[in-house]
Amino acid sequence: MTDRTLAWACAVGILGVAVAGGALVFRHATPSASAQLALGRQLFFDPSLSADGKTSCSSCHQPDHAYSDGRTVSKGAFGLTGTRNTPSLLALSDGEPLFWEGRRERLEDAVLDPFLHPVELALPDDHALTERLQTPSYRKAFAAAFGTSDSDSPTRQQLGTALAIYVRSLPKPQTPFDRYQATHDTHLLSQDALQGMDLFTGKAGCVQCHKLKGTPARFSDNGFHSTGTGLQNVAAQLPDLLRRLSIEHIDVADVGREIGTHANVASLGRFVVTHQPTDIGLFRTPSLRYVADTGPYMHDGSVATLEDAVDQEIYWRGLSSGQQLSLTVRERLQIIAFLKALSLSESSAPNNSASKQ
Ligand code: HEC
Ligand code: HEC
Repeated sequence: MTDRTLAWACAVGILGVAVAGGALVFRHATPSASAQLALGRQLFFDPSLSADGKTSCSSCHQPDHAYSDGRTVSKGAFGLTGTRNTPSLLALSDGEPLFWEGRRERLEDAVLDPFLHPVELALPDDHALTERLQTPSYRKAFAAAFGTSDSDSPTRQQLGTALAIYVRSLPKPQTPFDRYQATHDTHLLSQDALQGMDLFTGKAGCVQCHKLKGTPARFSDNGFHSTGTGLQNVAAQLPDLLRRLSIEHIDVADVGREIGTHANVASLGRFVVTHQPTDIGLFRTPSLRYVADTGPYMHDGSVATLEDAVDQEIYWRGLSSGQQLSLTVRERLQIIAFLKALSLSESSAPNNSASKQ
């Protein structure tokens, strides 16, 4: 057997070659995890899948901002602004409710919503989306990833799978706190960060919702709680909004589009999923991993700095539990030093001390 015929034999064995309508069609024998990951990455950064041809997932989930965007609320195709602050994709964990009010449960579904979201990638419908995946290079990449044939059209399900695989694969760099948690070496954190941790898990009660459970620690209970942010703006329209959302049956993807374009609907929080009056204005406890890298803060991005976010949380959590929290300025700085130790850009190295400020 010559080298050439050997190569052909291998190709036929691995891929399977068929002649359909006079054209050669390659059928890949098995799905490939590495091809799915590479495809997911390509899709994540591809602006051709947006209505203006300039916007991609990475426009808002930017690698340099811990996969958030540093904006108050997000900015999508044609420069349109949304109603919500972009969460980091680095702190996601399996089983966590997705989006600020938890309207999606599966990452495979959540990653598809931005395509038809009117102020994200803003494509008009599913047809427009699948049409953009009909290029020879995408057909080939989907076929290699899912063990199908180059002549098959890429499906929504495959798109969701590839993007979810990519999002799950994002590198989750270790923070000073992660290294401390693994070794219990107290030299890895400043004195202020260590004292901040004691306050966070003790007197300040933050850990009640921002739980340390899990490796790496999640800093969320995956639960929904009231917030000091936003709801006061819609109080007057509440009866109308509630009537509208309760009467109409709205599909989850449509709920997402309503939220993205109506700030008052976005402030209703968990209620839009459960329709329980007690869930009005409740939001998911965000993970605090990389929190110093992901400002502005809260579901609507209305709190500009980490310092202000901590102040508001101390005030609001005290108020809503009925036990007002009294912390000194120094203690607040220590909590902030601890939160920086959960982050990348402003790590709380031992010389980065609140007592110097
Ligand atoms: C215009 C900015 C923008 C674009 C483009 C965008 N996102 Fe997002 N993303 C957001 C915002 C804002 C939220 C929070 C929305 C909410 O809670 O209603 C979000 C939430 C998410 C979540 C849920 C995260 C969590 O913590 O619950 C995932 C997953 C996600 N986006 C993935 C993607 C993928 C994949 C793409 C590309 C297909 C994409 N996003 C495109 C702004 C954007
Ligand atoms: C009862 C549960 C609960 C407690 C206790 C709590 N939090 Fe929160 N925290 C939340 C929720 C819910 C949000 C999101 C609110 C929103 O988006 O409007 C939040 C948001 C935050 C944010 C903004 C994160 C982001 O990415 O936008 C920070 C910072 C924060 N909390 C710190 C703290 C600190 C420090 C304490 C202790 C003083 C604390 N929290 C106590 C539930 C809680």
